[in-house]
Amino acid sequence: MKFNTLTPEEAAALIGNGENIGLSGFTAAGAPKAVPRALAEKANAEHAAGRPFKVNLFSGASTSASTDGVLAQADAIGYRTPYQSNADLRKNINSQKTRYNDMHLSHTAMYMRYGFIPRVQTAIVEATEVTDDGKIALTTAGGNTATYCALADRIIVELNAYHHPGLKDLHDVYTPANPPHRAPIPLTHVQDRIGTTWLQVDPAKIVGIVNTNENDHIAPFKDSDPVTDKIGENVCNFLADELRAGRLPKEFLPIQSGVGNIANAVLAALGRNTEIPPFRMHTEVIQDSVIKLMDAGRCTFVGGCSLTVSDDCLKHIYENFDFYKNKIVLRPQEISNNPGIVRRLGLICMNTAIEVDLFGHVNSTHFYGRQMMNGIGGSGDFARNAYLTIFTCPSVAKKGAISSIVPMCSHIDHTEHDVDIVVTEQGVADLRGKSPRERAEELIEKCVHPEYKQLLRDYIARTPGYHTPCDVTKALEFHRAFLAEGDMRKANMA
Ligand code: COA
Repeated sequence: MKFNTLTPEEAAALIGNGENIGLSGFTAAGAPKAVPRALAEKANAEHAAGRPFKVNLFSGASTSASTDGVLAQADAIGYRTPYQSNADLRKNINSQKTRYNDMHLSHTAMYMRYGFIPRVQTAIVEATEVTDDGKIALTTAGGNTATYCALADRIIVELNAYHHPGLKDLHDVYTPANPPHRAPIPLTHVQDRIGTTWLQVDPAKIVGIVNTNENDHIAPFKDSDPVTDKIGENVCNFLADELRAGRLPKEFLPIQSGVGNIANAVLAALGRNTEIPPFRMHTEVIQDSVIKLMDAGRCTFVGGCSLTVSDDCLKHIYENFDFYKNKIVLRPQEISNNPGIVRRLGLICMNTAIEVDLFGHVNSTHFYGRQMMNGIGGSGDFARNAYLTIFTCPSVAKKGAISSIVPMCSHIDHTEHDVDIVVTEQGVADLRGKSPRERAEELIEKCVHPEYKQLLRDYIARTPGYHTPCDVTKALEFHRAFLAEGDMRKANMA
């Protein structure tokens, strides 16, 4: 190989204060590890010497403790986009140490190509192989890597010996042209391949190779509990009813499932429900639960952006690679989350809400309107364009002190026009075709926890004679009660 070999420290030394860094991967899957860690050490040393050092970090989605975590602990992230889910970084964002641009994940690469957001100067890419003429074999995720490499001035490759060499054959690298030259994206079935297995980069930009041997360090999700199991069962019963009613075709439609513990429990319930036929998935994150569905023959094919599976699950995939190699395709997020493709494939999209209001608006990102949790992720790419948009959440949080169904959301990520179905452990609210007042009544009677039903009935009774049951003087009374008195049940709707 003609490229220089670098230590992580030598690679980090190439990166200057204030630089824009683009990372491969999506979630912790496929993200570089050794160079970001060395960069955090460099930041600590610079800070100890009294010099400023922060980088601006662009990724596919969240990364991991070895990237966002260590860099946030070193206070080395000035600006971050498009998503995160790390506790230390969250703290820095909510204390204004890090500026955070929470954006639709399908937008990042094209916004950078359009010049809407800053261009990355250095791309750090995890690979299983790199050839002298610049063909890079990606690891466990598609992400925004192709665009970052195309726009960056230089590329550092982390060559990770841990991964299965066959991984490259799972990839389907495709970058749409910018308007006015964009052609239809020729993906009409979940299993279609439209690009190349390799990522072609300009070899002259590769400044060095860092050798590593490290897994993605992804912990398994929490086991489901009675509440998440009940949400899963409610989703499955609803989908089975839709099949019986002929509102879903008998061969079923492909599924997208969001991230998190509830999403995992819903997928597990889909695996158990024999009324629902085996299905395919076109999704963003392929989690452990999807692999279990494949093992059980319930999910027959999955196209996604990342293999975000626990270390044990990844080992299982590598040991049985022949079984999976023709059943998984890994795409760039601009394709897995592409709104046109989501609409064309007719996806059933299931994502998790933090709160839902009586009109059906959904908040996926903020606590009390001001505190960032993770970010919108791909939920908006899918929710706006799905065949059927389902949001799930437990009816209450914090031992009942918070109702997830509120008079008005304290922050809105998905509007009432994009949300069809809301599911809690209490039941299923079908918002399709209903007026605002009907939607409010459906949500109160089907999804709200019994302790909050009367408060919300009192709220909508305040505005008889109007199209939308909204009283601006009380719309955020639930949030006031929680912030001032520690419990939304203390809301005064009189
Ligand atoms: N107010 C305050 N806190 C709330 C709350 C509310 N209305 N609703 C939930 N919470 C708290 C919970 O109590 C819990 O905190 P705890 O762990 O301290 O008890 C936390 O928020 C959420 O719990 P978590 O276990 O992380 O839930 P999850 O794994 O199901 O994730 C989301 C839920 C919404 C955070 C997650 O799905 C997400 O980030 N979604 C946005 C992005 C997205 O949808 N991506 C998918 C597109 S493909």
